[in-house]
Amino acid sequence: METVERLRADCVVVGGGGAGLRAAVEARAAGLDTILVLKSVLGQSHTLMAEGGVNAAIGQIDESDDWKAHYDDTIEAGRFINHKGMVEALCRESPARMEDLYDFGAGFEKDARGRLVQADGHSGGQTRDRVISQGDFIGFIMQRALMAQALKAEVRFIDETIAVKLLRGDGGEAAGVLGYSLKKGCLLALEAPRVVLACGGGGHVFGRTTNPVESTGEGYLLGFDAGLELRDMEMTQFHPTGLCWPPSGRGILVTEACRAMGGKLYNARGERFMERYDRRLELAPRDVVTRAIVQELEAGRGCSNGGVMLDLTEIDAARLLYFLNNTARVIKSYQDIDITREPFEVRPSAHHFMGGLVARDVDTMEALPGVFLAGEIAWGTHGANRLGGNSLAETQVFGRRAGAGAVQTRRPADLRDAAVTDALAEFRSVFESDDSNRTTIYQVRRGLGEIMDGQVGVIRSEESLRRADRDLEALRQVFAGCRKAIDNYHSVAHIFECDRMLTLARVIIAAALARRESRGAHFRSDFPEESARRVNTSQKCDRGFQANEVEVP
Ligand code: FUM
Repeated sequence: METVERLRADCVVVGGGGAGLRAAVEARAAGLDTILVLKSVLGQSHTLMAEGGVNAAIGQIDESDDWKAHYDDTIEAGRFINHKGMVEALCRESPARMEDLYDFGAGFEKDARGRLVQADGHSGGQTRDRVISQGDFIGFIMQRALMAQALKAEVRFIDETIAVKLLRGDGGEAAGVLGYSLKKGCLLALEAPRVVLACGGGGHVFGRTTNPVESTGEGYLLGFDAGLELRDMEMTQFHPTGLCWPPSGRGILVTEACRAMGGKLYNARGERFMERYDRRLELAPRDVVTRAIVQELEAGRGCSNGGVMLDLTEIDAARLLYFLNNTARVIKSYQDIDITREPFEVRPSAHHFMGGLVARDVDTMEALPGVFLAGEIAWGTHGANRLGGNSLAETQVFGRRAGAGAVQTRRPADLRDAAVTDALAEFRSVFESDDSNRTTIYQVRRGLGEIMDGQVGVIRSEESLRRADRDLEALRQVFAGCRKAIDNYHSVAHIFECDRMLTLARVIIAAALARRESRGAHFRSDFPEESARRVNTSQKCDRGFQANEVEVP
């Protein structure tokens, strides 16, 4: 950890998913020497795991669709606290970004009129059929096309490297990123006047999540520690249908496309319980379906593994296997169930952070001079509840905007040695331990997941949130004294992530305490109604774990 290798570029993009790749492609197309640094091995990302589809109001399958209908659905699902300018950008620009993907080789189909082919059936909360899908492999298709384009454009990739600090010049502007390379076992000071943060979400702050292991949320704190504002961090979307068991498959996404194709949910008594909760049944927005499942579980109507049954058996088997081939294989391998013949057990899992860092200019997605945001890390598009298919669209629309924004920056990097030295000292302090206990960081992480699932999950209250906050403070003390030896390939990343997640969890709790109402994904049993006032919660690092309300823009 003592060696620091220094590298220079015009632009550093942090994150190897759809948003980061799209930003890097844009920056590179304008001639910027671009480094893309990613935590995992090249090609792996949360985008890769996306299944259902990507929203684009093309009107190919439903001619009544247009950007305005997409906008209205997005705002309604978000319960009116979205950033309207960002929603408009998403809905207007997504069709053009899908054309870009087509040009990059995504292999989407076109009809005789040259329009991208859309799938029939719409996901929860949408009034039109508007997804472009590829069976249940859309993420793979997008990731592969973007990777190919980035490689062709000669983006420089640095993989298996965790970004630990945003480096800034004396005036607070971007000067680069400090990273830690797992492969080399050394620190990297990546100097650049433009930094795009596209680090994805933080589902692993919760114990049960659909997210890949890399989604531990430290990107939010990279920006937050640099003075950026976080908004609506209480808004965690729990996907209604994560795999329920076995433990090794816990949380794996079972795509909403299952319900879009006609899948039905049943409780242990065999009741199609959604009839009691929403006239849209299984196609109500995700927050509604998730809450209904949790209420069934809490009422003791859960099935043997603590979930509810998803039944696809009424769907024509050939169609099912054609469109949900991946799902069929996953359920077969984890639960030995043939989904064309038998229902299988699912339950809600943390899926997406709708809150995030605030860009001060949504045309360029610039948040600080030279720092740009793209993808899940950026607040604004989804409000209190995200529509399925909007996050993939977001990666492309705001990835391109952030990359183009970076191109407009015309200042050289001014990275002082002192900035690197300070960042190094801060990073090293994470690994200090007073060895006062024999707990491992893996036990701390498990404790964190249990606290968050149990007390900050789908249904929260002041009492549960305050208890969680106290428990986390105690867990932080345990972490301070636990064993932090660097004795496996991932030790540095795991220790650092654990430290960051303990902080991020308290940020989430502070926001959840500040929102004294129920709205979208945030349900407070002590304030079960949606308030007539529409606000966003806002946090700044210098205020400690405390959030305020700000007017919806
Ligand atoms: O259910 C899904 O396929 C997830 C899609 C999404 O979160 O956008």
